[in-house]
Amino acid sequence: MQVYAHISDTHIGGSDQSVERTRLVMRHLLSFPGQLDAILVTGDIADHALVEEYETARDLLRSPIPLIICPGNHDRVPEFEKIIGPANQVLRLDGATIALADSSIPGRDDGHLSDETIAWLDEVLSERPEVPAFVGMHHPAVPLGVPYVDEIRLQEPERLAALLDRHPQVVAVFVGHAHTAVATTFAGRPLIVAPGVVSTLVTPTESGATVIVDYDLPPAFALHLFDADAGTLVTHFRPVTP
Ligand SMILES: [Fe+2]
Repeated sequence: MQVYAHISDTHIGGSDQSVERTRLVMRHLLSFPGQLDAILVTGDIADHALVEEYETARDLLRSPIPLIICPGNHDRVPEFEKIIGPANQVLRLDGATIALADSSIPGRDDGHLSDETIAWLDEVLSERPEVPAFVGMHHPAVPLGVPYVDEIRLQEPERLAALLDRHPQVVAVFVGHAHTAVATTFAGRPLIVAPGVVSTLVTPTESGATVIVDYDLPPAFALHLFDADAGTLVTHFRPVTP
């Protein structure tokens, strides 16, 4: 069994609570008495892509457990790479490969996987085709039933689907961006959206409005349990309160 904690959308500097919420969630994850193999952070790390926001994020996201991060639409790759690290990051664990890719487009809120990023993913996934893999990025590749987010989802998702077809060892896709825990499918695989750390997006059905961002609901994370022998991925979603 492998265990991955998946957080997203810390938006450091985006609200009074962004720092405290990120600290709370990281403290929670790092105090697990049980197994935790990796921490994944799927984008929108800094709200305004300021160097000082990235410096705060870097300090908050320090971890003795392997941790990888990709940028989101609120991030800017040059500042991200200067303070946080490469925009495309891979974790080669004993029983799994986890690759987080940059799906941001400079100056835009929707997402896209560039030719360079697709080539990077192809290369990383070709290294160990016999080892199960997970691919992550910021932008969901499918509509989630929330128009506000659906308009700024991953463009040309067929490029991602074709990549996954070339690498059948990819078990699931992990994303963020929506600030709400979602389980759906894409290209015949689970597509799991981590809830937001900074806030929670409420669906039109619940709120009666097009866009309701709730800053009072607690931050939350996804806990992925992967059983390589059974080939199953199970995800638990957990709020974190002080
Ligand atoms: Fe986003």
